[in-house]
Amino acid sequence: MKKEINFANQICDNNMIKLNQIRKVKDINELIQQADEYLGAIGFTDHGFNHINMVTKRVLMLAEKMSFSEKDKELAGIAAYMHDIGNVTGRKNHSVTGSIMAFQLLRELKVEMSNISRIITAIASHDEGNSEITDPISAILIIADKSDVRQSRVREKNKSKFDIHDRVNFAVQNSSLLVIQGTKEIWLNLEIDTSISPVLDYFEIFLSRMLLSKKAAQKLGYTFHLKINSSILA
Ligand SMILES: [Fe+2]
Ligand SMILES: [Fe+2]
Repeated sequence: MKKEINFANQICDNNMIKLNQIRKVKDINELIQQADEYLGAIGFTDHGFNHINMVTKRVLMLAEKMSFSEKDKELAGIAAYMHDIGNVTGRKNHSVTGSIMAFQLLRELKVEMSNISRIITAIASHDEGNSEITDPISAILIIADKSDVRQSRVREKNKSKFDIHDRVNFAVQNSSLLVIQGTKEIWLNLEIDTSISPVLDYFEIFLSRMLLSKKAAQKLGYTFHLKINSSILA
């Protein structure tokens, strides 16, 4: 507990919050873990540290390619790291509950309100139900989050019990997110094993996510494109 207080003071003294410091906050890591366990119990795919680290890595890549300031890179990384903690109170509206929880946690860490507000806005708007995109940080978080589809997100071991989310994720053999700065394009490239899941299944569950990614790319002055098995679909 004493260590946490000292750590908070350190953030305050430096007047700048860092992702690498947030990664070490025990309470935040506990919430990520518990939120993932909650989602596992109700049958959702992985939302634990594998997902969080993938989204954070992609957010940092997008921020770098789009020449965000050092401060904005840190804020975007923190928003990515904390974006799914709200799942600990239930899946519905988790983006909003997560943003309120992040507000409290970051306040206790003495983070400046101007920084907190941008982080919680990004967390609150990362999901389809509540997706007004007002900040580039929110936009890259949406693109990074919605692009995380992969076989290792599936928890169910018994294929006969797969639901459509399991099938689609399990079918994805490879996934990459690319930014082409010259033509201002963002590409999500997927390799799907269509013997496991037809491409149509992908659209059934991911269409709203792809449309949101398109909207987010527009906010950044980019276009969003989707390629599945060498076919350009968007
Ligand atoms: Fe989420
Ligand atoms: Fe997520």
